[in-house]
Amino acid sequence: TAAEKDGYDWFMRKEIFEQPRAIADSLLGRHDDSGKLQLDEIRMSEDELRDVDKIIITACGTAFYAGLVAKYAIEHWTRIPCEVELAHEFRYRDPILTRDTLVVAISQSGETADTLMAIRHAREQRAKVLAICNTNGSTIPRESDAVIYTHAGPEIGVASTKGFMTQLIACYLLGLYLAQVRGTRFGDEIASVVDELAGLPAKVEQVLGQADQIYALAQDLQDARSVLFLGRHAGFPVALEGALKLKELAYIHAEGFAAGELKHGPIALIEEGLPVFCVVPPPGRDLLHDKMISGMQEVRARGARMIVLAEEGDDAVDDYADVIFRLPKASTLLQPVAAVVPLQLFACELATLMGHDVDQPRNLAKSVTVE
Ligand code: G6P
Repeated sequence: TAAEKDGYDWFMRKEIFEQPRAIADSLLGRHDDSGKLQLDEIRMSEDELRDVDKIIITACGTAFYAGLVAKYAIEHWTRIPCEVELAHEFRYRDPILTRDTLVVAISQSGETADTLMAIRHAREQRAKVLAICNTNGSTIPRESDAVIYTHAGPEIGVASTKGFMTQLIACYLLGLYLAQVRGTRFGDEIASVVDELAGLPAKVEQVLGQADQIYALAQDLQDARSVLFLGRHAGFPVALEGALKLKELAYIHAEGFAAGELKHGPIALIEEGLPVFCVVPPPGRDLLHDKMISGMQEVRARGARMIVLAEEGDDAVDDYADVIFRLPKASTLLQPVAAVVPLQLFACELATLMGHDVDQPRNLAKSVTVE
């Protein structure tokens, strides 16, 4: 009913705007003021966590993209090798699992059959399974050794938004907690990342404040038949997620690419007027940002319509952008939290303008309980 939607036209739009709250709830009670993580709730002993020598993240759909972001963060912070695999591919390739493998299953619903079968296989091989899940008491956490619940609240829209957002938060918490328990060389920086996490609700709020500009862009792009998304590093999964949202909701061709891969093929797709979203990494010392800009230069030279998501104050993008959305300052690993928001709003609005049912897109189910 309209009341449940709080005055919004769709649950999805309401859920996008609930994200600052959802992030805060997912952080609540999981760190102290000094930046120390408190995740005893996962019920795995510190010894078990110290013994982990490989992490495999498995999930489907949007949750899989949260896993791709997590890989960048977890490997960097913990130095534990981390793979990410689609749950329906996982067990069929006979993955190498031992009792020191930690399999992390990410699922908003906790009922996705593909993900459930993947963890059953993992446990049969004696791997430890940790679930990241939004639904208390659902099957996946019940069948796991440990669980981190996301506190997004019920997600009604079929396309996941606050579910994804809080999966990112849970993954960051897990990575930092592992680093804390294991005492990696990154240890001194944990407190500053925790501090940055605590500031994310306000940053997401700031991005939500630009909703009207994003809606205006959707109006302009109503006739688009294809849209590309480019990103690098943790921004690459954001590009994939932006494209998935358009497929799910607007039913148009959309693809996400790692910007560095463009020259190896996809650049052949660029033609006059093609909308290309670019998620620009924060300017930093590692040249990622500059390489992104030079890739954008190539795309623009071929006539694409450039929609750029870049950090505030990053004026290096100005010459290569038709439209710019400003992201609050963030570290490269945490930037996805803010960067995904304009892409969610864009897909929601474009589908609305096209007259589609945003909350229940054709052919999709909120939770796929068959393999
Ligand atoms: C379905 C939904 C997607 C979701 C995926 C994984 O396909 O339509 O939005 O990302 O399942 O769902 P889960 O509940 O496991 O996160």
